[in-house]
Amino acid sequence: MSAVRRPLLAANWKMHKTVGESVAFVREWSRRVADGWALPNAAEVELVVCPTALALAPVAPLLDALGVGLGAQDLDVGSEGAVTGGVSGYLLAEALATHVIVGHSERRRLFGEADGVVAAKAAAALAAGLTPIVCVGETEAERQAGETKRVVTGQLRAVLEAVPAADARLTVAYEPLWAIGTGRGAHPSDASEVASWLRALVAERWGAAAGAVRILYGGSVTAGNVLGFWQADAIDGALVGGASLEMESWLALVRTVAPTPPA
Ligand code: PGA
Repeated sequence: MSAVRRPLLAANWKMHKTVGESVAFVREWSRRVADGWALPNAAEVELVVCPTALALAPVAPLLDALGVGLGAQDLDVGSEGAVTGGVSGYLLAEALATHVIVGHSERRRLFGEADGVVAAKAAAALAAGLTPIVCVGETEAERQAGETKRVVTGQLRAVLEAVPAADARLTVAYEPLWAIGTGRGAHPSDASEVASWLRALVAERWGAAAGAVRILYGGSVTAGNVLGFWQADAIDGALVGGASLEMESWLALVRTVAPTPPA
């Protein structure tokens, strides 16, 4: 953890939970807080929950009351227009989203989102006033071929070229594909090396402003392994899938990274 960047812990619910289940989860969390489960100090860690697009508006007031950010999982470029099925950053912000995941490997793989599309979405998110969490990462085969840095370089450079000026809201998540949903997280020192590399790429373009950009790790993060990432200077938080879906595993994660309740 760095002293200058506020760490971020984001829950990516993917295509899980109905609207009713999403609302029930956040209500249950609120009930625990009312019963004495101390939320971390917002200065200590920023929390964000990313439900399905359908659940954004219904959970928005509940998360807001907890001081927790609301993230979408994808966006389309533009604001409003003839884009059947599209949900723009403008519409997400209007539904009170504060963050948006961009270029998750599942979007890249299942929806064919290439680097250029991901880059345009990252720029559109910033233009809409959202904090983009841009995902980069290599496949198992690329890793074994020693191509990790080459792959993430191409992915991140495309984004940096599309974003017009240094912007501290840009957040990058290093998510090696082989670590996602496999229970086989990266070693913190390997993830940290890639995070440092990513920051150097930002610095190449943005100079000292790169020091404010947060770089997260994602891939099989649990309460049991999160501290290894949290304690790495180059890593500024985590993007969590599976372990964010159940109340107990989510609260355990939050408590692990923020053990001291506010006085
Ligand atoms: P996981 O997912 O924590 O279930 O590995 C992470 C992600 O895909 O963002």
